Amino acid sequence: MPTTTPGEAPLIDPAELIADPYAVYARLRQAGPVHRIAGTDGLPAWVVTRYGDVRQALGDPRLSLDKRNALPGGYRGLALPPALEANLLNMDPPDHTRIRRLVAQAFTPRRIEQLRDPIRRTADELLDAIAPRGRADLIATYAAPLPITVICDLLGVPPQDRHDFRAWTDALVAPDPARPARAKEAVGSMLAFFTQLIADKRTRPADDLLSALIAVRDEEDRLSEDELMSLAFLILFAGYENTVHLIGNAALALLSHPDQLAALRADPGRMGGAVEELARYDGPAPLAIRRFPTEDVVIGGVTIPAGETVLLSLAAAHRDPDRFTDPDRLDLARDATGHLALGHGIHYCLGAPLARLETEIALAALLDRFPRLVLDVPQEELRRRPSIRARGLLVLPVRY
Ligand code: HEM
Repeated sequence: MPTTTPGEAPLIDPAELIADPYAVYARLRQAGPVHRIAGTDGLPAWVVTRYGDVRQALGDPRLSLDKRNALPGGYRGLALPPALEANLLNMDPPDHTRIRRLVAQAFTPRRIEQLRDPIRRTADELLDAIAPRGRADLIATYAAPLPITVICDLLGVPPQDRHDFRAWTDALVAPDPARPARAKEAVGSMLAFFTQLIADKRTRPADDLLSALIAVRDEEDRLSEDELMSLAFLILFAGYENTVHLIGNAALALLSHPDQLAALRADPGRMGGAVEELARYDGPAPLAIRRFPTEDVVIGGVTIPAGETVLLSLAAAHRDPDRFTDPDRLDLARDATGHLALGHGIHYCLGAPLARLETEIALAALLDRFPRLVLDVPQEELRRRPSIRARGLLVLPVRY
C-alpha cells in the first residue's frame, strides 16, 4: 500500500505545497491513489489524489462531515463556538438535508439574478477608483472589496456596518503563527457582529437573505438559533473567502497566459466556459472539507479506517491526466465541466450560481476597462497565502 507515514512524509514539503501544490499532488498521484500523511496539526490524514476517487468520495454517504465521527483525539481543527459550529459543512443528513432545503427557499435564483446589476455597478466603481493611478494591487482594490459588497448586499448588511471581513476571514483561514490570539478574536468579532445583525433584522426585516432566513426560523421554528447564526456565518465566510481568491487566481492565470487572454478578449462570449476552466486550473480550494469515515472504507484499493481524517484533493483531481487531457495546460477552449472546484454531491456549493456570476462579471469588467492590463512584478515574486487549504495571492500588482 503506498503510504507516507507521519514523520517520513518524503513527498510533501509544506512550503512547496503552498508555492506549487500541483507539483506536490502530481508526485503523490503518480506514487499512488491514496496516502497517509502527517497533517499540518501533526495528526495523520489520508490524501486522495485521483479524479475518479475524489468525485466518488465527495458523494459517499459513509464519509461524514460531522466531527463527532472523528476518532477521539484524532482531529484538531479550529474549535468554533456552538453558535458558529452548527453549520452545513459540519453536518450530515438528516440535519443537513433539512437546513439545505430551508436555505433553498430563501436563496432563490431570483435573489441571485437581482444581484447582477449591482455586481457590475460595484465592479465598475472599484475600477473607476483605481483607473487614474495606472497601477494597483488587484487583490486589495478589486478582488476582495467586490465580494464583500456582494455578500453584504445579499445578506442585507447596511453600508455603515460593513466591517473588515477580510481581516477576520484571513485570521481564520491563514492564521498568523506569530499572533495566535487573532483567530480567537476574529471568531469573537464575527459572533458579536451576527448577533447584532440578526437582532436588527428581526426588528426591521428587509428584502434580503438574512431576513428571509429569519422568517423561516421564526414562523415555522424549523431552524435553531445556533443554526441560523451558523448559516449566516458560513454564507459570509464561504461566499466571501473563496470568491476573492477565485477572481485573484483567475486574473493571474490570464495575465500569465497572454495568448489565452487575447483569445478571450477577442471573443468575450466565451467568458462562461473560461471561468469553468479557470476554476479547474487554479481554484481557491485545493482540498475539500475534511471527512471522517463512519466505517472502514476502501478508496483506490486502500482501506481507510473509520474515524480517521480524509482529505480529498480537488487540486490533484483537477490535474489528473486520466480525466483532463494535458491537465497542466490552461486551455480556455476546453470543456472543463465536471471539475470539482465547487464540490460535488449533497455539499455541492450552495452559492455556485452566485460564484459563477460574480467571477464572470468581475473578469469581464476588468478586461473591458483595462485593454492593456499586465502584471507589475515578475511572476516568481508573487507570494501565496500561507495556507494549504486556501489558495490565493497575498497581493497581485498590476499595471494598466
Ligand atoms: C468562487 C467561489 C466559490 C468556491 C470555489 C466555492 C467552493 C465550495 C466547495 C468546494 C464546497 C463544498 C465543500 C465540500 O464538500 O467539502 C462549497 C460549499 C459551500 N459553499 Fe461555496 N464556493 C464558492 C462561493 C460560494 C458563495 C458565493 C457562497 C454563498 C453565497 C457559498 C456558500 C457555500 C456553502 C453554504 C457551502 C456548504 C454547502 C453544504 O454543505 O451543503 N460558496 N463551496
